[in-house]
This record gives sequence, C-alpha cells and structure tokens, in this order.
Amino acid sequence: MESSDIRNDLTEILVTEEQINNKLRELAAQIDADYAGKDLLLVGVLKGAVMVMADLSRALTQHVQIDWMAVSSYGASTKSSGVVQIRKDLDTDIAGRHVLIVEDIIDSGLTLSWLLDNFAARGAASIEVCALLRKPEAAKVEIDCRYVGFDIPNDFVVGYGLDFAERYRNLRDVAVLAPHVYA
Ligand code: XMP
Ligand code: MG
Repeated sequence: MESSDIRNDLTEILVTEEQINNKLRELAAQIDADYAGKDLLLVGVLKGAVMVMADLSRALTQHVQIDWMAVSSYGASTKSSGVVQIRKDLDTDIAGRHVLIVEDIIDSGLTLSWLLDNFAARGAASIEVCALLRKPEAAKVEIDCRYVGFDIPNDFVVGYGLDFAERYRNLRDVAVLAPHVYA
C-alpha cells in the first residue's frame, strides 16, 4: 500500500456521491408510486448492496420490510459463472410477496438471472430489480431491470459498496481503480 488515502488508488470518479443521492431519490419516488398500497419486501444482495439499500430504503416513504441474501458465484474462471451458491438464505418466506431485489451492479447478469429463477420458484407474487449500476456491454443474459441508476462502461469499478479484494466499499463515490493497484 503506497498511501492510506483511497483516492490515490483511483483513475476516475464515474458517479459522484451527489449523483447517487439524487438518482436514488428519483428511483425511490417511482418505487413509492409503483408499490402504493402493496406490502413491499426489499431483498439486498450482500455485501455490495449494503449502501444502496441503506440510502434507497430511507428515501422511501412507505412501509417496507428488509431482508438479505448472500450468494457466491463459482466456477473455473474469475468471472461470474452463473453457477450460484447460497451463502446466506432469506429469513422471509416470499410466497405471495412483492419482492424488489436491490443490487449494486448488473455485470454479466448471470447472478441476477439465477436469483430471479430462484425467487420465482418460491412463489413470489411479483419480483422486480433495482440496480444502482449496469454494464450494458458486459451482459451475457438480458435482465429485465425496472429501476436502473446508471449505465456505465465495461470497467471494473469500486466504491459505494463495491469492492476490490474487500477494500474500497467505504468510498462514497463509484470510481475506476488505477492500474498500479492491480500490480
Ligand atoms: P454478474 O456478472 O453475475 O455479477 O452480473 C454480479 C456481481 O459481481 C460483482 N461485480 C462487481 N464488483 N466491481 C465490483 O466491485 C465491478 O465492476 C463488478 N462487476 C460485478 C458484484 O458483486 C455483482 O453483484
Ligand atoms: Mg453484488
């Protein structure tokens, strides 16, 4: 580690804290309108979605319940394989529930595709997705995501919950890592 200041490890801030806050307020207003009169369950995918969940849920004006799931994707490659293992399951029975999955990022889409099938099999009344970030160029499977914050280029990004080797989650913005960090 050359410096203890996170910012020295970044080449570019892609989305600022202010842009994130404004966008989440916009999405929350849409979600409030779409789920008016319905019993909404927010499901965050650990650990990346922690910040999005904290800010999005507090921007909502209606009652919600919050649950968490932890999954890991494994296979021969370092990229998402689409083979997903549940590391922490829901505490909630989602049969008949209106579920909104809260995600940090849709990259290949393979993890969410698996989660959507899994939740459908449990008999949820409805399942939608809210993702702060999406990489359209990286999509291997099309995800019907009703609430998207920002479409970004196909770079590895960190911050606002997203990590590189478990670091950078506490950065307030979303940024691209500098090459010297990988070296
Ligand atoms: P897939 O490819 O299945 O990816 O859509 C889902 C999960 O992979 C992680 N991911 C990232 N994490 N920077 C990160 O810190 C990235 O650029 C990135 N792309 C994917 C993330 O946990 C996501 O939910
Ligand atoms: Mg994630």
